[in-house]
Amino acid sequence: MNKRIVVVTGGKRGIGAAVVDAFLAQGSLVIALDRDFSPGLVRSEASQDLYTYRGDVSQPIEVQAFTEVLQEFGRVDVLVNNAGIGIFKPLEDLEIDEWNYVLNTNLRGPFLMTKFLLPLLRKGQNPSIINIASTRAFQSEPNTESYSASKGGVVALTHSLAVSLSRYGIRVNCISPGWIEANPDAELTNEDHKQHLVGRVGVPSDIAHACVYLASPEAGFITGTNLTIDGGMTVKMIYV
Ligand SMILES: NC(=O)c1ccc[n+]([C@@H]2O[C@H](COP(=O)([O-])OP(=O)(O)OC[C@H]3O[C@@H](n4cnc5c(N)ncnc54)[C@H](O)[C@@H]3O)[C@@H](O)[C@H]2O)c1
Repeated sequence: MNKRIVVVTGGKRGIGAAVVDAFLAQGSLVIALDRDFSPGLVRSEASQDLYTYRGDVSQPIEVQAFTEVLQEFGRVDVLVNNAGIGIFKPLEDLEIDEWNYVLNTNLRGPFLMTKFLLPLLRKGQNPSIINIASTRAFQSEPNTESYSASKGGVVALTHSLAVSLSRYGIRVNCISPGWIEANPDAELTNEDHKQHLVGRVGVPSDIAHACVYLASPEAGFITGTNLTIDGGMTVKMIYV
């Protein structure tokens, strides 16, 4: 197998789907996992180089089963931990089960994926892991506790894994997207665009291209870091 073997979680829609497309476009073989795909390992009709698999990153048994399915590929070169969800509610209304659901998906998910895929990543060529965090790891609006905490955890998990997995030659980085509009039908106002230093809201390919770069040999000196991709929103100083 000469092609790079790339695993993307949450690959069915949004940023994850753009990450899948970007790696396919540069000639990789991609295995996309999402809880909304059809059951089993399915070779896509859209591309011979794309496989889909239904699984839930928050569930150890499902991640372990996915790992067993991946054995036929022999190795994994790139893991993009993208699957994530958000529940935004006032603290008084946020149920403990909801807190657990967000943390288990956004933080335990990347941990489980990395833990179970590690033997395959250790066999990878120029192996690397890219975790999708969020600018909400560093800044908050009200009522975002579970999501912000999970993404802060992803940033910390990233540098921790980078240190631990360096002994296997595995680089680990994260990307913190700002506002990425994945819905092409979304009605965005001029104000939405203009508040960004670059004059527009982000699109999924803004994140996908960065994933391809961070996974490339040209990024071989980059590990343990966070790349903020937010059109400049988080460097703006605002006094109300
Ligand atoms: N869109 C943004 O503005 C933005 C900003 C910052 C960070 N992010 C992060 O980027 C990632 C992708 O966001 P998006 O906007 O594309 O979201 P999205 O909701 O459009 O897509 C998320 C995908 O992940 C899948 N998924 C969710 N939970 C899963 C689970 N437990 N197991 C397997 N698959 C699961 C969903 O089915 C869906 O296909 C998330 O981690 C999100 O937190 C997004």
